[in-house]
Amino acid sequence: MTPKVVAVVGATGLVGSKMLEVLEERSFPIKELKCLASARSKGKTLKFRGETVSVEELTETSFQGVDIALFSAGGSTSKKFAPCAAKAGCVVVDNSSAWRMDPEVPLVVPEVNAHDIPKHKGIIANPNCSTIQMVVVLKPLHDAATIERVIVDTYQAVSGAGKAAVDEMYAQTRAVLAGEEPVCHIFPHPIAFNCIPQIPQANAFEDNGYTNEEMKMVNETKKIMGDPNIRVTATTVRVPVHSGHSESVTIETAKKLTAAQARQLLSRAPGVVVQDDPANQIYPLAINAVGSGETFVGRIREDLSHPRGLAMWIVSDNLLKGAAFNAVQIAELL
Ligand code: A2P
Repeated sequence: MTPKVVAVVGATGLVGSKMLEVLEERSFPIKELKCLASARSKGKTLKFRGETVSVEELTETSFQGVDIALFSAGGSTSKKFAPCAAKAGCVVVDNSSAWRMDPEVPLVVPEVNAHDIPKHKGIIANPNCSTIQMVVVLKPLHDAATIERVIVDTYQAVSGAGKAAVDEMYAQTRAVLAGEEPVCHIFPHPIAFNCIPQIPQANAFEDNGYTNEEMKMVNETKKIMGDPNIRVTATTVRVPVHSGHSESVTIETAKKLTAAQARQLLSRAPGVVVQDDPANQIYPLAINAVGSGETFVGRIREDLSHPRGLAMWIVSDNLLKGAAFNAVQIAELL
């Protein structure tokens, strides 16, 4: 690949900084790197490949001469600036939810639907973090036995809500341990020593009683897997874990799959690592998944309550496969 001019929008944020790390680790061929963020960060410096890069303010003219822009600066920033970038001839890989369900925009998890990448018209969307790790595991099972229904409950890390949310969890934890009242700014309830069945933290609920995050899992799964018939129900929960989303996933398939067959299919699946030895207490754990671009699956068992049901536990680093790593994989395929 000829070296590219690459921009990272939201380079000072949690996902943006992971994007820089992944670009560096995977030796992405970069001719020039532009780090963009809000006016607040103008003049800050970041390190990339041992060199200092100054953060520039994102403006409508930031994309002249840029080949690929990785966006992770929130939905409203993407809505406003991704079209400017595309118009300037740049291909955007957008981590926000702004464009995901647009029929003109491919929604891509490379292990599942890399074939959708060439359909882009300047913008490619990176799916929701919880959806990405789920579909990486479900795709080989769907190909083998046709998944009819998915029931998923998530245990989502605080880093998915950004830097300020992580700071809030630590501040609240310190407060509780000191016998003080935890103070909430980002989350509607204390996240320290608690679980909150509401994601995102504001304006979450839709008329049907599901949250936006839950509906993302419902709708994005169908789009990425290219099958509108897969029925999905989700409950998404924020838990006091720094990084690494965990999911309890139960599927119902048209054709019976045994746990052994599922384990075998998954052991050959790209991007998936089977960790399933309950006798030795081996199963995926968030703390072990952090730092890896792979998705881990274990606790695979046949559902006692359904003749063609399978239950499993899926874990991945939400900032990597759930965001930065998936985005860089897409950029590599571009
Ligand atoms: P900044 O650091 O200047 O606020 P996180 O999700 O970890 O909080 O990170 C959000 C990222 O998105 C940060 O890099 C932040 O930049 C960036 N960002 C937020 N709002 C804007 C905006 N209006 N224009 C450009 N970048 C933005």
